[in-house]
Amino acid sequence: MDVYGLLGNPVGHSLSPPMHEAAYDELELEARYATFEPDRESLSDAIHGADALGIAGLNVTIPFKRDALEIVAPEDLAARIGAVNTIDFSGSGPPTGYNTDAVGALRALRDHDVAIEGARAVVVGAGGAGRAIAFGLADAGATVAIANRTEQKAHELAAEVPRATGYGLAEIDQLVANADVVVNATSVGMENDVSPVPADSLHAELAVLDAVYRPLKTRLLRDAAAAGATTVDGAWMLLYQGVEAFEIWTDRDAPVGAMNDALRTRL
Ligand code: ATR
Repeated sequence: MDVYGLLGNPVGHSLSPPMHEAAYDELELEARYATFEPDRESLSDAIHGADALGIAGLNVTIPFKRDALEIVAPEDLAARIGAVNTIDFSGSGPPTGYNTDAVGALRALRDHDVAIEGARAVVVGAGGAGRAIAFGLADAGATVAIANRTEQKAHELAAEVPRATGYGLAEIDQLVANADVVVNATSVGMENDVSPVPADSLHAELAVLDAVYRPLKTRLLRDAAAAGATTVDGAWMLLYQGVEAFEIWTDRDAPVGAMNDALRTRL
């Protein structure tokens, strides 16, 4: 029996257990996916203890993604992003840390036939999600405009990301009007039915990914659909960060359809 799990606090409403267990069922793997809520002070003990117990892999979520970076050996992209959301214990050395949020966003877009290489991308938000997505898009060959409410944070992040420029939200109309891809990496749209992007800047040549998945049909995505844009909801990103983690842990192609069904029936 292989044991996987999620470290976070809180993790009670996480959709990762049903998503991963749907994959184990589909492939008839003898595996289970559990959730753990350690204190921050116990995080290192929890990760090393998991390794000692033979746990096969862990996901890491809020508030531990940055702390986990210091405890594991991060691969290059996770180190640059500064956050780990997936730990693999299968090697002989220290556990390896990955960031599958970045690749998750790329795979969500590619699944919808969105080309990334050479694309002009706008990432709205410069927090944890914005960092991961901006590095992912840049690594895949996009030119990245980072627009953030606190403009200074956009400039700081842009200084780290290849081919990136930072902006405040005042310039967002112009940026989106000239873009191929827009990603919302802020929490705007979660609590209230508002969009971080003015509707009249959206256009039919655009692909729009919203990292928000509760609700699924955000104001941004409804406005984007009305403008004729390609829309990619946040469940696709959630799905593909999990798909990528599954594939790192098992070296097998993930059963994407079964994982997607397990997610969508719960959203
Ligand atoms: P996460 O890890 O989910 O990215 P975070 O690190 O707290 O969360 O980042 C939240 C992001 O949403 C930030 O870019 C934040 O902008 P600021 O840097 O200016 O705080 C953005 N954000 C949150 N509420 C916002 C709002 N009402 N309007 C615009 N941006 C908002």
